[in-house]
Amino acid sequence: MEHYKLFIDGEFVDSQDGKTFESIDPGTELPFATVAQAGKADAEAAITAARKAFDRGDWSGLSPSARMAKIQDFADQIAQQGIRLAATESMDSGQIISLAKFGPLLGIGVLRNLSLLAATKFPWEEEIPISGNVFAPGREFIRREPIGVCVSIVPWNFPMSQAFWKIASAISMGNTMVLKPASYTPLSALIIAEAAKAAGIPKGVLNVLPGPGGELGKTLCTHSDVDKISFTGSTEVGREIMRMASETVKKVTLELGGKSANIILDDADMDLAVEGAVFGTFFHQGQICESGTRVLVSSKIYDEFLEKMKKRAESLRIGYQLDPASHQGPLVSKEQLATIERYVRIGKEEGAKLITGGKRVEVPGISGGYYYAPTIFADVKNKMRIAQEEIFGPVVCVIKYDSDEEAVAIANDSIYGLGGGIFSGNHARAERVARGIRTGTMWINNYHIFADFCPFGGYKQSGVGRELGLTGLHEYTQVKRIHVNALADFKSNMTFQIMSDYKRVDGFAYNCPTNVIAGHGSLSSIYKAITELGCRRALILTDPGVAKARLAQLVKDALVDFCVGVYDKIPSDPDLESADAAIAKARELNADCIVSVGGGSVIDTAKAVCVTLKNGGKANDHLNFLVLTEPQVPHIAIPTTSGTGSEVTSVAVLTSKSAGRKLFIVDRYIVPNVAILDPRFTMTLPKDLTVYTAMDAMTHAIEAVTSILSNQICDGQALHAIRLMKENLPLVAVDGKNEKARLNMQIAATMAGWAFTIAQTALAHGMAHTVGTLHHVHHGAACGILIPKVMRYNVDHAADKLALVAQALGVNTTGMSVRDAALAAADAVEALMEEIGHPLKFSEMGVPEENLPICAFHALADTANIFNARPVNDPADILKIYTEAY
Ligand SMILES: NC(=O)c1ccc[n+]([C@@H]2O[C@H](COP(=O)([O-])OP(=O)(O)OC[C@H]3O[C@@H](n4cnc5c(N)ncnc54)[C@H](O)[C@@H]3O)[C@@H](O)[C@H]2O)c1
Repeated sequence: MEHYKLFIDGEFVDSQDGKTFESIDPGTELPFATVAQAGKADAEAAITAARKAFDRGDWSGLSPSARMAKIQDFADQIAQQGIRLAATESMDSGQIISLAKFGPLLGIGVLRNLSLLAATKFPWEEEIPISGNVFAPGREFIRREPIGVCVSIVPWNFPMSQAFWKIASAISMGNTMVLKPASYTPLSALIIAEAAKAAGIPKGVLNVLPGPGGELGKTLCTHSDVDKISFTGSTEVGREIMRMASETVKKVTLELGGKSANIILDDADMDLAVEGAVFGTFFHQGQICESGTRVLVSSKIYDEFLEKMKKRAESLRIGYQLDPASHQGPLVSKEQLATIERYVRIGKEEGAKLITGGKRVEVPGISGGYYYAPTIFADVKNKMRIAQEEIFGPVVCVIKYDSDEEAVAIANDSIYGLGGGIFSGNHARAERVARGIRTGTMWINNYHIFADFCPFGGYKQSGVGRELGLTGLHEYTQVKRIHVNALADFKSNMTFQIMSDYKRVDGFAYNCPTNVIAGHGSLSSIYKAITELGCRRALILTDPGVAKARLAQLVKDALVDFCVGVYDKIPSDPDLESADAAIAKARELNADCIVSVGGGSVIDTAKAVCVTLKNGGKANDHLNFLVLTEPQVPHIAIPTTSGTGSEVTSVAVLTSKSAGRKLFIVDRYIVPNVAILDPRFTMTLPKDLTVYTAMDAMTHAIEAVTSILSNQICDGQALHAIRLMKENLPLVAVDGKNEKARLNMQIAATMAGWAFTIAQTALAHGMAHTVGTLHHVHHGAACGILIPKVMRYNVDHAADKLALVAQALGVNTTGMSVRDAALAAADAVEALMEEIGHPLKFSEMGVPEENLPICAFHALADTANIFNARPVNDPADILKIYTEAY
């Protein structure tokens, strides 16, 4: 008798305690080989070898392509062992030779295919295009790395194929492994190990330990050097493995039992369905986890189907497994035979109708062998034990149903969900039924077909995880995120600042991509601008007030043939629905460019339109911080208010009715390409809006200077914007037609927009957003009322910056302390507001005093507060500011 040894650290060795066992041919019940039986000490030696090999890196450290090259050599060695492998597998497991002969071929396929997939299609390293965290900019990488030492435990039904699946997956992904074949069927795995050795797979990468579970299994599943367990076998053992693995929190994939439904719809091709049901159940003596052991047959065809299936089952030839004429060989073992006999007894006792089989079979010329006849129980109720419990033999339950819905319900009434089939002449109907079933694989008009590139595994108690395909390969890796800080300086790291007294962030990245064209008559440059953008079909977006002031018409006239339409229905404080209506118009007209003519409401809507036109769907799909990687539909902004600076900012503010508040789209790629600041466009703005929107711009500038993200470029822009506003706002407040002052106000708003899109706004904005949302106070007016109070609140945290603001506002700070100068800045803002007739109190704006506490509570959570110079943690502080502003 041939003797097989354990394979540990690249060598074939006997077990340390010298134990051996016999491998029995289930077709004759005669022993035909002796095998070294691995115990605890051998398991420890194999795990140590695998651990060392992994840590050494001569496999795990290779590139996936280098591993693929070695695995191709391995596959060639398997090819050389083909006949020996097939014959040994057949004798060892009882698999008929006409099936076992495919084993080596399929093994070669899976080795080559999975290593190729790992080398060419697997996402080993990906870069997430833009940091998902706007507060911690940098590069983000996702790396996938081998897990480490993998224990693979394979069952006795398909010892060779299962070994190939597990070896190919584990080693293609750079892991090392200890493989434990079932004690009934240890031989093919040891021949595979010979091939691995001959191919030069480094020592310790693959170790093979035959032997019964018990002590050996326990060592493998609890050893602290094992990182992952992949087990295929019964659900009962799977549960135990999960329990054992939990001690050291090993990663586990389990491919467990099944009681799959093979559903025969009333429109099925009868012969195909009968063949599918017979193959789906009796193939390999029914010893397959995903067998269709519950055949669900429509009542419309039940009798005819049953008759034909019985006839076909009775025509199967049962014989010795090496006889090429055999359709069915023996069961794997005496124990399995006893299980089948017990379940057949249970079925009879439960009242199921045995229509064929139910008995052992003798094969002429052979005394012994575990042969059992294909057995059909008809009129089975799904609640019966034979329909609920896995039998794992040639026993099928036929169950009658009346409708597709009932078939789905019966199929799902199981603790398992591994495989399943549908036979039908109507693919759409079959797919609909397939979608309703909670199971890992569904075959339509087929059964038992696997594919290396498609995942296999179970729902419910049929398992955890998947094997094969990219999904299966992922199970053999760990995921690592690598974040590389783009601002690698402790004073630039905003989040570190949370635990530091130094709150200001020093580093910055400045980006101002808008081409700004400003001055009297600058509208005429729009033709050049649109030509340079390569566009010919501009849609003008505007609102009714701006249209009424005939400003959109001015733009239309300037665009001449390059304008495909004017859409003037954008409301103030626009919502997502109004953006969608504009998007629909742009799609209808096939616009290739958007020209926004209006205040922040129109420009913000236009930003959403440009993003949605480029990326599809609705505006709501693109809310939030985006990660756009390329320019959007070109956008030319012509502001008609001088407040928001939206023509140069990276944010769009839109109201979501369903969220009940304003939400944002933020991305560097939504900044308009061109901004035209032509004073004619703001000269028609009424006085109240002139002063409100100006105070929005003023607040942008002051908050940009005091923000913890402020920087020298933004400071320069913001302080100059403040100077321009101080000089020109009183002029436009008394004379809206003062063209020069209007242009200066536009320039100031744009500069303030640049400053705050980088440096951000702060507490005054957070509080203004809240009164705007809850009490509809105009955003600019709310900002104006709040900003002096917030400046005083911040005085000890931004005195130096506020002193600069005071100077920009024309305060003579000579001889003042920095703190006094800072406080003087707040007074100067209020003085300016009085001069231009801007309200100073919320009581003038209709906000009910009793609602201030609720406003304070909401305002505390506004994102803008994060950037405030003085930390904002207490709603009582905010309430105090609201009360002062009342
Ligand atoms: N994206 C950003 O960077 C940003 C910054 C701040 C505010 N916003 C948003 O901007 C919006 C407010 O924008 P806004 O303050 O510019 O006001 P707006 O666009 O809502 O316009 C207000 C009103 O003024 C009228 N109007 C505008 N220009 C006119 C003109 N020249 N002549 C006559 N009437 C004119 C409009 O018809 C409208 O009725 C809000 O939704 C706010 O959330 C955006």
